Amino acid sequence: MKVAHQGLALKNSDFNALAEDLQRSMDKEGVPFRAQNALLAKLAQMDRTVVTK
Ligand code: HEM
Repeated sequence: MKVAHQGLALKNSDFNALAEDLQRSMDKEGVPFRAQNALLAKLAQMDRTVVTK
């Protein structure tokens, strides 16, 4: 994970954009709110691994 993203110079705004895109897609597909939050919480734990800038 770290190696895959380290050359991309990702910022918090990139990470947030991904989270928003995912949330919009899950809303569109009718994914229950609790399940959405469970996924987003898992991803949030990884922000220091992919955000380097
Ligand atoms: C927690 C959030 C994220 C997770 C779980 C995640 C997961 C992954 C995984 C599993 C890979 C493939 C690694 C491999 O090839 O073995 C990957 C690659 C990649 N990710 Fe992410 N990612 C996340 C956030 C982001 C964000 C925010 C961006 C950009 C907006 C991004 C852009 C990319 C790109 C461009 C690659 C391909 C890199 C390459 O092959 O050179 N990722 N990601």
